[in-house]
Amino acid sequence: MDSESSYNAFTSYYPRLELDIKNDLLNFEATPEMIERILPGTDFNDSLQEQAIILGWCVELLQAFFLVADDIMDDSPMRRGKPSWFKTPGIGMIAINDSFIIEAVIYRLIKKHFRSASYYIDLVELFQEVTFQTELGQMVDLTTAPEHVDLSKFSIENHTFIVKYKTAFYSFYLPVALSFLICNMDSINPAFAIAKEILVPMGVYFQVQDDYLDLYGDVNITGKVGTDIEDNKCSWLVIKALEICTPEQRSVIETHYGRKSSSDIAIVKQVYDQIDLKSVYLSYSAETELKLSNQIKNIDPSIVNPQVFEIFLKKISNRQK
Ligand code: IPE
Ligand code: MN
Ligand code: MN
Repeated sequence: MDSESSYNAFTSYYPRLELDIKNDLLNFEATPEMIERILPGTDFNDSLQEQAIILGWCVELLQAFFLVADDIMDDSPMRRGKPSWFKTPGIGMIAINDSFIIEAVIYRLIKKHFRSASYYIDLVELFQEVTFQTELGQMVDLTTAPEHVDLSKFSIENHTFIVKYKTAFYSFYLPVALSFLICNMDSINPAFAIAKEILVPMGVYFQVQDDYLDLYGDVNITGKVGTDIEDNKCSWLVIKALEICTPEQRSVIETHYGRKSSSDIAIVKQVYDQIDLKSVYLSYSAETELKLSNQIKNIDPSIVNPQVFEIFLKKISNRQK
């Protein structure tokens, strides 16, 4: 090795040692100020974009954790165009532990990348809070779908609770609240409340779309097979159907909903077609998107940039998957 290349090897090695020193200091609970004193001027922090990317992946992991478990509970055969994880040959109920591990990895990543951030504990608590909310939503989703059909459980109040908790907080509020935290916004900042006010109803709408796509979506586009009718789910579709159907149609639903056979499912779908449930959904959808976009227009731009929410709405508007 010539002297120049060994010099380069020597100098380029230093950042790794700096990282070792920093990690060592972190093991002793060193604050950012302490690290700055020992290793002045060293920028160890991931850039804002890197932080956003890491947390974005943490949200994806949270979603993966929920979905692996959800597909077991819903007995869903397919996810993202492939067999659900528990339906994958050789996996089965091991998927339960896999879901726990996926969840644990979130906190390990946050610890690795944000341990020294002033908002570290806020990140952890936010993930824990939305996880709890989601689990409450899943609980009501499952307990309103008992073994035997009980149409009285299919109220819009139950539905709103379910979808708000099982979907809206983690899919809509969480990513935006995370972005606020990495920008050093204090958790008492009114932007958090404003974000929640618009993103929770948007998440509710997103899950109504999911309920619609469960039956009317194209499997090749959604990558999943609907199971709401046979699973006896408190879906937006069955609630609207019960609102507008005749007493005769109601008893047809009562007899055939929540049954596994394809003929029962087809009979329920036939009632939905008779009452033109698709059109009911399409007008609800247009109306809701208008409401949400008006709500965004009323946001005070000096507190939070409304563009954030416009981008979200545009992404889900009229979605097919
Ligand atoms: C899933 O709800 C919600 C969570 C995973 C927390 P659904 O059961 O309605 O969603 P899909 O249709 O299986 O994706
Ligand atoms: Mn499901
Ligand atoms: Mn589910």
